Amino acid sequence: MRTIDEQGYHFEEWLTPEQVAADVQQVADRISADYHDKEPLFVVVLNGAFVFAADLIRALKNVHCETTFIRVSSYFGMATTGQLEFIVPLQQVVDQRDVVIIEDIVDTGLTIHQLKAHLRAHGANSVRVATMLFKPEKLEYNDARPDYIGHEISEEFVIGYGLDFDGFMRNLDAIYKVKE
Ligand code: IMP
Repeated sequence: MRTIDEQGYHFEEWLTPEQVAADVQQVADRISADYHDKEPLFVVVLNGAFVFAADLIRALKNVHCETTFIRVSSYFGMATTGQLEFIVPLQQVVDQRDVVIIEDIVDTGLTIHQLKAHLRAHGANSVRVATMLFKPEKLEYNDARPDYIGHEISEEFVIGYGLDFDGFMRNLDAIYKVKE
């Protein structure tokens, strides 16, 4: 098993690149089935979701779609600050659009809760959420429960495949869990 030591923390490989690819394909197949007759707008939540989004949108079949980006931040190191900051705001008109938010991980759900409200306030016809990872035990906002989930995880902190630790480790090809 591959391991990484970073800033005094020990991480162990949890999902291999092959497992990640299978999860992405499963999510893509479900989205393809639901959106082949629609014209969805994918809203990719930067920074973390860029790796998942790149693989996911290329794995879709027969989905005529647009993709745009939004950048928010609520974390510092391993802890949430509870405040959502729009660093790159929404630049696309979402009025009457069927929006699918692409996230790397849904933790407390604060980010998705606020983003959904933002998109609905701007007239989105529907808003669904696709996430690579979901921490159901940590969910605090019920409306943030994702519609498409790559893999569920308990409360552990994870890195890789877009997920960072203080800005680093996003480039890992697998997902690693911190070990106490
Ligand atoms: P939420 O708003 O609490 O749901 O947090 C969502 C955001 O927190 C994600 O987009 C990530 O940027 C970050 N995050 C939550 N858990 C982790 C983790 O285990 N590793 C890395 N980032 C995380």
